[in-house]
Amino acid sequence: MALQAASLVSSAFSIPKEGKSSASSFKDSSLFGVSLPDHHAKADFSSSVLRCKREFNQRNVAIRAQTTATTSPAVNVASPSGKKTLRKGCVVITGASSGLGLATAKALAETGKWHVIMACRDFLKAERAAKSAGITKENYTIMHLDLSSLDSVRQFVDTFKRSGRPLDVLVCNAAVYQPTAKEPSYTAEGFELSVGTNHLGHFLLSRLLLDDLNQSDYPSKRLIIVGSITGNTNTLAGNVPPKANLGDLRGLAGGLNGLNTSSMIDGGDFDGAKAYKDSKVCNMLTMQEFHRRYHEETGITFASLYPGCIATTGLFREHIPLFRLLFPPFQKYITKGYVSEDEAGKRLAQVVSEPSLTKSGVYWSWNKDSASFENQLSKEASDEKKARKMWEISEKLVGLA
Ligand SMILES: NC(=O)c1ccc[n+]([C@@H]2O[C@H](COP(=O)([O-])OP(=O)(O)OC[C@H]3O[C@@H](n4cnc5c(N)ncnc54)[C@H](OP(=O)(O)O)[C@@H]3O)[C@@H](O)[C@H]2O)c1
Repeated sequence: MALQAASLVSSAFSIPKEGKSSASSFKDSSLFGVSLPDHHAKADFSSSVLRCKREFNQRNVAIRAQTTATTSPAVNVASPSGKKTLRKGCVVITGASSGLGLATAKALAETGKWHVIMACRDFLKAERAAKSAGITKENYTIMHLDLSSLDSVRQFVDTFKRSGRPLDVLVCNAAVYQPTAKEPSYTAEGFELSVGTNHLGHFLLSRLLLDDLNQSDYPSKRLIIVGSITGNTNTLAGNVPPKANLGDLRGLAGGLNGLNTSSMIDGGDFDGAKAYKDSKVCNMLTMQEFHRRYHEETGITFASLYPGCIATTGLFREHIPLFRLLFPPFQKYITKGYVSEDEAGKRLAQVVSEPSLTKSGVYWSWNKDSASFENQLSKEASDEKKARKMWEISEKLVGLA
């Protein structure tokens, strides 16, 4: 194991900037996140809902009846002085109980301009996380969401609609990563866990909430799906085996159940690291397909991003201990692709709220001076035909078609 770690670090010195050859000697995700920046409780539903309603009543804002779509509160609310000010934006962030999601929730809540709906599977963990991050009570609400269950996704959407909140921005951030799994595990509906959670759960969620987003009267309404460099084979990190590859989508079409079909999108043998990367390709394809289908009609900004390598987050919890020990210094000092959770949170918060980042269909990245730029997606992650096919299959799998 020490040897493996040593080779992980020493090999890094010989990485050519655009090279593919040396990258192929790395196994799994040892270079996860190397970037080329220069060029390119179940939830306590009732208390949550009550708190939402109380806050909205205080502001004389109409509460929407259960599942019926009515107009969202006026974007300008009168202050005591009679001066009209912009109301708080309402942003839903999935997986806000740790890492990037939590840091983004904190960055947005701190501005005082956003109310964050923390859409999390573990209510108590989310509550503790919000407290320890210093997010004040009036700036967040926790709602239960387990993306590995389509029933839970539908339940979340129902709870959200009943809360009476407008939806101004939806951030699909949560993810699971199982690089050391020998066998696949499955969602409630029997889809391989990484793709089922990271892609299919978010696919259903964003489709069901699209109309709510569309009804928002906020100056800029956005749907953001977090991507990753590891799904992009036009990068060094994306060339670390196993590479993302959706193939002809035969495994996805078969339902990823590992019984009468493969658990992998391309129909191959199970590989946990690849399943994660494939799910990220789906995330990026989904964002672009949303853009093509709905941007013109709705004015919603659809975006994806790679926030940098946040080597310290819980995403790597299932990796071997030595990897977790060496990965952060490797990213900090060797690849220089490392970003802190705070910095990554600020980056995603920019994509949520910056008036300059309203362009739709963009995959954002940041250079070494932390300036945002429109990055290029790999050939597969920008393949329109594949995006359409993936969308249509996903619709069937989640029961929308
Ligand atoms: N870390 C990086 O270097 C990096 C780089 C590029 C992109 N990203 C992306 O950044 C996003 C956030 O990752 P992270 O690094 O912040 O990892 P993280 O700290 O592990 O956060 C992942 C979040 O997803 C939640 N989650 C997992 N399964 C869920 C489910 N079934 N239902 C609802 N929530 C679920 C987790 O909830 P629990 O707290 O309950 O576990 C956690 O809040 C992911 O989309 C990842 O692909 C990360």
